[in-house]
Amino acid sequence: MSEVPALAIQNLSKTYDNGFSALKDVSLTVPQGGFFALLGPNGAGKSTMIGIISSLFKPTTGSVHIFGTDLLENPSIAKQYLGVVPQEFNFNMFEKVEDILITQAGYFGIPAKEARPRAKRLLTALGLWDKRDSKSRELSGGMKRRLMIARALIHKPKLLILDEPTAGVDIELRRSMWEFMQQINIEENTTIILTTHYLEEAEQLCKRIAILDHGEIRINTEMKDLLAQLSVETFVFDLDTPLMRQLALTGVTDVFQPDNQTLEVTLTEGESLNGVFDQLSEQGITVASMRNKANRLEELFMRLVDKNIQSADSMKEAGL
Ligand SMILES: Nc1ncnc2c1ncn2[C@@H]1O[C@H](COP(=O)(O)OP(=O)(O)O)[C@@H](O)[C@H]1O
Ligand SMILES: [Mg+2]
Repeated sequence: MSEVPALAIQNLSKTYDNGFSALKDVSLTVPQGGFFALLGPNGAGKSTMIGIISSLFKPTTGSVHIFGTDLLENPSIAKQYLGVVPQEFNFNMFEKVEDILITQAGYFGIPAKEARPRAKRLLTALGLWDKRDSKSRELSGGMKRRLMIARALIHKPKLLILDEPTAGVDIELRRSMWEFMQQINIEENTTIILTTHYLEEAEQLCKRIAILDHGEIRINTEMKDLLAQLSVETFVFDLDTPLMRQLALTGVTDVFQPDNQTLEVTLTEGESLNGVFDQLSEQGITVASMRNKANRLEELFMRLVDKNIQSADSMKEAGL
């Protein structure tokens, strides 16, 4: 018998009261032990999905199972398995840091005596132990974010879901948060799902990735397979002379002129960069410099959400 998934979402839809359909028949399975990225641009429906999983609101249709327990039928059991870090800070701003963790443990029936050592471990690991007696409102933004994570972990959830955990966090802190999350994933065998619009984050941390866009799952695959499918590369040419017209190039996948001194050329495997240089010089265009654009995942993501590709199949047809 196969292991029950950490999270199983089936045919989930959410239409808000104003008639807006934020999730459209979404199904998603996250295996145990994984580190899973739910990627999507702003407004894709990520927080809506997490709001349903956190029981903040009910889905219009569909079901959610957490470690095999139906969230709508047995919410109190399902919630024991789950720790959520929402996008917005939502702790009591006047409560002290350590007390916030102890109070949270109380909601799960964990007595303070038992919660204290766990709180100390978490606060220490997250660099907050010195702040244990401070009121939470006195913390910096990055500290508040870490406090949210510590609170979500106090009852040792088997599944941790973080909604944009590193949005607005500086790069140094972001890296230390990544390390912490990796540690929790490995040492406590906690399944971790994070939403992000930072592709680098997904690429660094996650073995599996799903891309949500306009309330629909576009892609759900292993990170390595996604990267392997990616044989396109975009080069940015800075030109010495302004272009007076739309340029025609052959043997390339895509040409884009963001302004009259810049040219972006996308090549698929087998198409030649030398060929591009040859054509430019034939047309009397000299190149001042050239660089590789963004990272590959970033490119893919932009293509997907821009072109509104409907499924992984059509992605293959499009040669991505
Ligand atoms: N309470 C609400 N009522 C109506 N529309 C909402 C509500 N909350 C979110 N939305 C809309 O649903 C869409 C998805 O939002 P959200 O789930 O927050 O996306 P994400 O987290 O991916 O940025 C957005 O277009 C947003 O404006
Ligand atoms: Mg969101």
